[in-house]
Amino acid sequence: MPASYTDDDLADGRAALLSGWSSGSEPGLVITKTSGALVWDSKGNEYIDCTAMAWSNNIGGSNPEVVDAAFAQARELSHLRSNFDSVPLLLLAKAMTDAAPGDLKRIGFTLHGSLAVEMAMKLALQNRPQHTGPFLTLTDAYHGRSLASMGLGWPHTNHAFDRTFPAVLRVPQPYAYRSGRSEDDEVDYCIAELRDAIARRATGLPPAFFVEPVQGNGAQLDFPRRYYQEVRQVCDEHGILLVFDEVQTGFGRTGSMWAAEHYGVTPDLLVFGKGVGGGFPLAGVLSSSTLDGFQPGDDALTFGEFPPSLAAGLAALEVLRRDNLLQACAEMGAYTTDALRAMQPRHPLIGDIRGPGLLIGIELVRDQQTKEPAAAEALEVYRRAVDLGVIFGTTKYAGLGNVLKIKPPFTITRAQLDRVLAVLDQVLTDIETGRSFPR
Ligand SMILES: Cc1ncc(COP(=O)(O)O)c(C=O)c1O
Repeated sequence: MPASYTDDDLADGRAALLSGWSSGSEPGLVITKTSGALVWDSKGNEYIDCTAMAWSNNIGGSNPEVVDAAFAQARELSHLRSNFDSVPLLLLAKAMTDAAPGDLKRIGFTLHGSLAVEMAMKLALQNRPQHTGPFLTLTDAYHGRSLASMGLGWPHTNHAFDRTFPAVLRVPQPYAYRSGRSEDDEVDYCIAELRDAIARRATGLPPAFFVEPVQGNGAQLDFPRRYYQEVRQVCDEHGILLVFDEVQTGFGRTGSMWAAEHYGVTPDLLVFGKGVGGGFPLAGVLSSSTLDGFQPGDDALTFGEFPPSLAAGLAALEVLRRDNLLQACAEMGAYTTDALRAMQPRHPLIGDIRGPGLLIGIELVRDQQTKEPAAAEALEVYRRAVDLGVIFGTTKYAGLGNVLKIKPPFTITRAQLDRVLAVLDQVLTDIETGRSFPR
């Protein structure tokens, strides 16, 4: 960070930005430091970060061992042309495939989840040349913001990009809380819709079905276990590749290393990102060893195998294991979900509480019967909590905009979680009772 700068320098920089959340619903915080589950802004205010900075600081912000590993690597070899191999590339390929579920024993790396999604799209197209139909995706899916990955997701409003998008066929995701069906009926309905889409609505067999095992940007939605098994079966019947986009759910967020393990279903391709780099950009695809890989040049990006990120990934994996952070995630997640359930009866705004692990969504409604989405209230909870030193996640992309998220680093302490819960309790009460808040 530069040694000195003024508030005017920062304001000029913000005015120059083409886009960014900071000019939207965020209150324009400039974050200068992070450690564990805490972040500090440029005014010295401290916050508990329930977003793990876009669900990426799974092992805590700026973990010293990860930072040291990345910098040590950078001092030796910061950049390498992708025709050559680096030591951290090969070691991480081994470590990640050793830790992968089922037969996902081949791996490719890149720097962003969106490009990893595109890597999976390419692998699917290459491995299923006779499947000339559209990609299958779920309603309210989010798979990134590169052009092709954006096309897989639920359409944004007000965008001019859709003329570049790949052919996509969307099928409904299980959302029993909103459909009003029982969980079993909801699974039956969604599987029937999937079968119908393949049989009658796709012009040609789809090469792959992209599924976020828990929809993050949609409505922080987990699905009944049977759904994953039935999806696997339908894909197998048609030779459609099942792709789990685990950019958010992977690297321990469910309390298991991968959601694939948590739900007991192995996909053909597993997309990872976010937490794997321990705060450094790192993403990629784990592939079934039964599938063909790439030919030279098919997926070569200048910085795709960035040595400092790969070294950071190795260190992050080591910290995750050594510090038992999967267990910490499962325990802290259960503690929080239980506490929220205990809080629910006294809060008419809380409609539904969803897990698993530290992948928690709280759907706010204006009326428990009609389930009218309380989007403005969710934003108000977010704003008031920031004033009280807690940063919650909110749904901004798809869904209904009424879901709060608690997805902090796994290193969050019990005391910090108690503070998060107390702030939520207070802010919900204030909003429910119409109490105004001094700003
Ligand atoms: C499920 C999922 N897939 C893909 C992406 C895209 O990752 P990135 O922003 O690193 O390109 C995200 C990012 O939020 C995501 O949540």
